[in-house]
Amino acid sequence: MLKTLACGLLTCALSTAAFADVVDNRRAAMDQIRVGAATLVPMMKGAADFDAKTAELALRMTYAAAIAFDGSLFPEGSSSKGASPAIWDTTEDFDAKRAEFLTNAAAAVSALPTDLEGLKAVYQPLLGNCAACHTSYRIKN
Ligand code: HEC
Repeated sequence: MLKTLACGLLTCALSTAAFADVVDNRRAAMDQIRVGAATLVPMMKGAADFDAKTAELALRMTYAAAIAFDGSLFPEGSSSKGASPAIWDTTEDFDAKRAEFLTNAAAAVSALPTDLEGLKAVYQPLLGNCAACHTSYRIKN
């Protein structure tokens, strides 16, 4: 309500429309990352059997999505229901967290796991990255 009053209905509607694509694209990237986690976490917990090919696909998809999740998807003023304004207050830290996720995803595809221990070794750091970034920068709806 306050925001609507402050920026005026028309301006708000325009800026929302202008950023609709980047918001959709970063959510799409995150959604792929979520599907990767939905595949890999049950394997790590023993709720699903380890399968090297499935793990490889999930890790490659995660890496591709991490590449897509780049700074161009976060233009100034594109805060959304899910993206905290803190992204634009402490952009350097946000960028460092994105970079770390990308580095860990790259490491995972260059050391593709052949067993459960290998999967845990490469994917655990990525799970740590989700939590670290979401705590500061994602608004859970
Ligand atoms: C560097 C920061 C960062 C990392 C790392 C990160 N996320 Fe996110 N995630 C975000 C932000 C920011 C959003 C909100 C995007 C928006 O709504 O505009 C988000 C949104 C999401 C969403 C909601 C997508 C939607 O459709 O609204 C899911 C699911 C998600 N993340 C899963 C994960 C998982 C699983 C991991 C780790 C494997 C992860 N994320 C790692 C920053 C991150």
